[in-house]
Amino acid sequence: MKLTQEENAIRKGSRGPVWQKVMNTLILYGEALHAECFVDIEWGGHFSIPFALPGVGPRLEMLTELAEAGLKTKYPFTLDPKAPIDFENLGLSAEQKRVFREMLRDQPAYDKRMLELGLRDENAYTCTPYFTEVGNRPPRGAILAWSESSCVVFVNSVLAARTNRNSSILDLLSNIAGKTPLTGLLTDEGRRATWRIDIKVLKRPHPQLLGAAIGRLVMDGVPYITGLDRFLRPDLDDETVDYLKEMGAACAAIGAVGLYHVENITPEAIDQGRRLLVAGAAHDAIDDGKLEALLASYPVMWKDTQAKPRKCFIGCPHLSLRELRGWADSIFDALQAEGRPRIAVETILCAAPHTISRFKADTESYMKLISAGVKLSPTCPEAYMNNPLCAKEPVITNSNKFRAFTSARLLLDEELIEAIVTGRINQSRDLK
Ligand code: F3S
Repeated sequence: MKLTQEENAIRKGSRGPVWQKVMNTLILYGEALHAECFVDIEWGGHFSIPFALPGVGPRLEMLTELAEAGLKTKYPFTLDPKAPIDFENLGLSAEQKRVFREMLRDQPAYDKRMLELGLRDENAYTCTPYFTEVGNRPPRGAILAWSESSCVVFVNSVLAARTNRNSSILDLLSNIAGKTPLTGLLTDEGRRATWRIDIKVLKRPHPQLLGAAIGRLVMDGVPYITGLDRFLRPDLDDETVDYLKEMGAACAAIGAVGLYHVENITPEAIDQGRRLLVAGAAHDAIDDGKLEALLASYPVMWKDTQAKPRKCFIGCPHLSLRELRGWADSIFDALQAEGRPRIAVETILCAAPHTISRFKADTESYMKLISAGVKLSPTCPEAYMNNPLCAKEPVITNSNKFRAFTSARLLLDEELIEAIVTGRINQSRDLK
């Protein structure tokens, strides 16, 4: 890579051995990505590793080495949701608590190191850091080094900031150095669309089902999506933003999409229109039949496929304030229609700690949820499920991302509400 004088000096050890390791690691990363040089980072980072599992997580010794050498990120950063230590709201058995305590025994030390290295605040754990109440919302065009696929695709597509899908830990090192390899989605050329996807459906599709269909088609390509603007408002209002958040998370998880453009909706598509498409871009269409076939192809991974659901997670990615209010109303209305006081399936709505605090100030909505028996948690449902104990539970969700990574069963929103309220899954649609 072509290095500046300063980068070269750091590489040779001008700032000491820890800085030297950071720079050399980033140079190797840049070379692997065929980057010619680094570019300066212009906004805070967001990293996808919020906890340390013994033998799996990033080694605490590395964080300690960085912190003790006085290194810190250029700007404050945020982290993905905390591990499932929210015992008050997750309805854990004694055995589950014991296992989580053991698995997550390094969490306090990890949190301390992250604060020393530049974590925004002790509640900065969420996969929706870009919501106003959380505050890590980069401006258009800002150069970033983020990981967490659902965040990367959101800030690239909806906010038109610029980040690659970085590897975990390399995101941290980049933000310490304040530099990231100039390549891929940071460049104008890398942001051009390699696919045109025409949406030809009769009504607005479930965002995470549509996202999965797009992701499966384009994999790590950049889709330019037409026909979806019929179902979205052009001014990126809260409802549109939430829809794009959900769709993007599934594009990124089921495919490997880091950026999409929606015709007449997302900033770069508004400015450049179909000029964003590269010459010879691939082309495909998604219609209702394809979405139904995709939904029907998802297997039920439960040992007993007829089991009653034991738990429901909503909020992968984390819910917005608008979504929390919407679920509070929907569940409350469904309970009233059924003449029931409380939900029949333990239900946990996941959102950022800052979003939950704001939501609690809306006493009417909050009381609707609490009186119905619904819990709020800042955890990550996937982190909860990814162990042999919890993986056995019959869990339902409306998140295609969560379904893809675990044995949770996907239900569309109306089916999910019915299941939460009655305890029964409507089997009329055969999910296999
Ligand atoms: Fe967020 Fe965890 Fe889902 S990080 S996107 S809640 S897998």
